[in-house]
Amino acid sequence: MNHSNSELMMTVLMTPDKANFIGNVHGGDLLKLLDQVAYACASRYSGKQVVTMSVDQVTFRQPVHVGELVSCYASVNFTGNTSMEIGIKVIAENIQSQIKRHVNSCFFTMVATDQSGKPTPVPTFTPNTPDQFRRHKGAELRRELRRHYEEESLDIRQSKAILESGKS
Ligand SMILES: CC(C)(COP(=O)(O)OP(=O)(O)OC[C@H]1O[C@@H](n2cnc3c(N)ncnc32)[C@H](O)[C@@H]1OP(=O)(O)O)[C@@H](O)C(=O)NCCC(=O)NCCS
Repeated sequence: MNHSNSELMMTVLMTPDKANFIGNVHGGDLLKLLDQVAYACASRYSGKQVVTMSVDQVTFRQPVHVGELVSCYASVNFTGNTSMEIGIKVIAENIQSQIKRHVNSCFFTMVATDQSGKPTPVPTFTPNTPDQFRRHKGAELRRELRRHYEEESLDIRQSKAILESGKS
């Protein structure tokens, strides 16, 4: 696979229409931007239509201000059979001072779909550089954690259903 297709950068100016009630950028607007970046990165890499399966670790550690430039650096970290983990690092830049801040890093799982909306295989991503190996290893761990979390959540839901059926 051509690895130049596995990374993507998108920069957007934070205009006043994105402000929340206290004048900073609305979290929902940033989430929409991150989803678009993940979509573009995954769809360009796979050459397929993709949908968002899950989002991990979206933590807004610092506010993003109206008037700042937000740059999203996205990479394919890992591919399964039909899914891709896309990591995104978000940098906010004050245009006048050019001071940059790392405001968020997050991970999207995108699934490639065929014309009927069913999952379809994606090209295997093989890491080449030290950064790609590091991200790939982290992505493998997160994939295991997601599986574990799904199984535990299912157990909790099933226990709750058993308890509730005993009440009636
Ligand atoms: C994405 C979708 C097509 C997957 O269909 P599905 O029948 O659940 O697919 P599968 O169980 O075969 O899983 C597909 C992939 O998702 C992965 N996956 C499943 N659950 C997951 C989870 N909780 N987190 C991350 N990845 C997950 C699977 O491991 C698999 O990847 P792999 O092939 O690389 O191993 C389907 O769930 C869907 O249409 N979801 C709605 C997507 C959408 O509309 N998103 C926009 C928000 S509304």
